[in-house]
Amino acid sequence: MTKLIVPGKQELRGNVKVAGSKNAAVAILAASVICGKKVFIENIPDITDVGTLLEILQNMGGEVRRRGRNAVEIDTSNVRSSTVSPYDLVKKLRASAYFMGSMLARQGKAEVPVPGGCKLGPRPIDQHLKGFSALGAEVEVEHGLVKLKASRLVGTHIYLDVVSVGATINLMLAASTAEGRTVLENVAKEPEVVDVANFLNAMGASVRGAGTDIIKIKGEPELKEASHSIIPDRIEAGTFLIAGAVSGGQVCLREVIPQHLDAAMAKLREAGVEVSASEDTIWVNGASRVQPADIKTFPYPGFPTDLQPLAMVLLTRAEGTSVVTENIFEGRFNHVDELKRMGANIKVEGRTAVVDGGSSLTGAPVKATDLRAGAALIVAGLSAEGKTVLKGVEHVYRGYEKLEEKLAGLGAEIIFSERDEDLRNAEKN
Ligand code: UD1
Repeated sequence: MTKLIVPGKQELRGNVKVAGSKNAAVAILAASVICGKKVFIENIPDITDVGTLLEILQNMGGEVRRRGRNAVEIDTSNVRSSTVSPYDLVKKLRASAYFMGSMLARQGKAEVPVPGGCKLGPRPIDQHLKGFSALGAEVEVEHGLVKLKASRLVGTHIYLDVVSVGATINLMLAASTAEGRTVLENVAKEPEVVDVANFLNAMGASVRGAGTDIIKIKGEPELKEASHSIIPDRIEAGTFLIAGAVSGGQVCLREVIPQHLDAAMAKLREAGVEVSASEDTIWVNGASRVQPADIKTFPYPGFPTDLQPLAMVLLTRAEGTSVVTENIFEGRFNHVDELKRMGANIKVEGRTAVVDGGSSLTGAPVKATDLRAGAALIVAGLSAEGKTVLKGVEHVYRGYEKLEEKLAGLGAEIIFSERDEDLRNAEKN
């Protein structure tokens, strides 16, 4: 198990280039099978979730050629198998569920293990399945597999009961080649949804309205080759933004779309953090005094659930009490017990966490149980007194590219290693 050691009290200073969006990349890779031809994708983040999806694609008969660290050419003309496997890979990430929509669109058939991903409480896929069924697919869940079959998919009107990023994307994929017109209502408006729609359109699909509550899709029987460049990762950007604020330094984020971070920047300003933005850059100055701020997570353009664990670290430093309400995932408080081990004063009741600020965090052995919780614990370690040893770093690598390099570039001395000896030495020093 990889561990890392954060020596504590690290002031971040410098600039960092934001990587391509993880959540857009994983959906776009799965969507690439629809055209059954070559696609070229740039600004792909170099993270383990992307590696896992590329392996799954190869297993299905896709030919994958890496073009440097951040671009990939994929030829899916030989993808024939409708079975998405092996289970060991598929269960690792929730995005494997996107093969349900893409393989249905490609060949009217898909068998996909019920998706895994971060453990954030119950993560049903009923809205995905309801939509596939409305488009004319037979849906069966058997022996841990979702089995989908359709002799033809026919466009229809689908109203989502819950605003879901995954269901919105999956249904756009499935409807892209369906006969006639599909209207999806009450859909997610996240920038990643828009990026996937742009990729589908680059392949010749006709998807309109992504980024609003209603998406209209005119099915096209065949899609073509395409090139696409993935949008910047707003969650990685938000992570460095909060890390800069917490550590008390000065951080500049490059190649970002500031508008995608409006909710996060507004909340940081409310907490007294100095943030400014230009066309594709954001600057943050660490605050010497942090004000309490209440946070409620909501679908985009609301405050993103993925930044909630990170924001909570900042609030542990506030001069007063903040209330954090998690409206998206009821189990997304995995980081709280670990932050408490570092001296934070947080009480959780249901979906609400009350953070009593003013505590000085102290380094401790802690464990990441999901991706963003892991990132939050690293950020907490950066502002803590003394050493933090984090286990479960593999969760963090799922979504953060070149984390060591980026943190080192900002002046943080963090030790990442799988070698017990290195870690024992570092722990002693
Ligand atoms: C995606 C992101 C994740 C982010 C989340 C919310 C990826 C790979 N993951 O996850 O990082 O935190 O969006 O922004 O893009 N729901 C149902 N039924 C469904 C589907 C969802 O009830 O069929 C519920 C979920 O339990 C949750 C809410 O809808 O309460 C939102 O989930 P959803 O937007 O689908 O999240 P994911 O797509 O899994």
